[in-house]
Amino acid sequence: MPNTLGVPCVADAVRVVADAETLADNLREAEASARPVTVVGGGSNLVLRSRLPGVVLLLRIRGLRVERLAANRWRVTAGAGEDWHEVVCATLGLGIGGLENLALIPGSVGAAPVQNIGAYGRELKDVLESVTVFDRRSGGLRELTVEDCGFGYRDSAFRRGGGASPAPIIVAVTMILGHRGLVADYPDVTHEMRRSGIRPSHWAIADVVTRVRRRKLPDPRRVGNVGSFFKNPVVTPGAFDRLRGKLSIDGYAVGDRIKVSAARLIDAAGWKGVAHGAVQVWPRQPLVLVNHGGATGADVLALARRIRDDVFSKYHVALELEPTVLGKD
Ligand code: EPU
Repeated sequence: MPNTLGVPCVADAVRVVADAETLADNLREAEASARPVTVVGGGSNLVLRSRLPGVVLLLRIRGLRVERLAANRWRVTAGAGEDWHEVVCATLGLGIGGLENLALIPGSVGAAPVQNIGAYGRELKDVLESVTVFDRRSGGLRELTVEDCGFGYRDSAFRRGGGASPAPIIVAVTMILGHRGLVADYPDVTHEMRRSGIRPSHWAIADVVTRVRRRKLPDPRRVGNVGSFFKNPVVTPGAFDRLRGKLSIDGYAVGDRIKVSAARLIDAAGWKGVAHGAVQVWPRQPLVLVNHGGATGADVLALARRIRDDVFSKYHVALELEPTVLGKD
């Protein structure tokens, strides 16, 4: 099974799905044989255990449609199987701004709403109009609004699952772009702009974000990783005060709670750069775990657990995994 963490995983059966019709056929077939189905996009936010039972559908539905709605307002629809960064570049290349802060995020378009991808001050939900899904109960396509998707920080209704009914499968994503201003107030972005004397524009932000990401984050084509391995925890004001009694850490208000940096906690607990076998805490961004080659999903999860336990025992903050864990050992 392809995955950017580069861990071995064998599925019972794998099918490449390039259109909604083939998707429906495959789902019917799997249902008839009572086999579980797992839908996978770019495999860039997955930790796979050694075996995936049932059928894996590799979603490769392509297509990019751009519709001009007004002088500076476009509706852009991308197939779930398109590469996210290619869509960012294609829209910027057409002079359409809006996705520049989300440049260089690995993975497919279909995976973007699942974890409500976000970086450098912008989240997908800020530009999203609707998500087209294949509804497994009705066997047809359906449009979900932003409200239907129940977005939160690195979270959505797609992640939480639909209880007893099978989760809808994302086949396309529609965004409204162009009309929003620039978001250039994230510390890393402003710092890099100042340092290189660049004036903010959609392209300049994409360029700066690309540079910052390249400097801090490992390239999944070279070193196995899934980006952030933990979410930034959101704590109560009381817990934040207690935390500040133990270390210097910034907090960002999220409603009546406070978001803190998981990287800061992992760093302060002494894990930065630590390696266990082939798995390492990335020295330039301790929120990322990398596989230098030869690790299994279980190896990566074992190190993640040690980090979680240690951070909890030192700071009483529970770190939550950011990627999705699939399969069995
Ligand atoms: N920090 C340290 N030590 C380090 C590095 C960072 O203590 O070695 C602390 C610093 O206090 C720093 C803070 O971490 O100010 C924040 O670091 P950064 O700006 O890199 O952001 P992050 O909160 O660690 C989040 C996202 C990233 C996203 C960046 C930029 C999550 C889980 N991660 O990281 O997303 O690129 O912000 O917006 O929200 C991803 O989801 O895969 C991902 C890479």
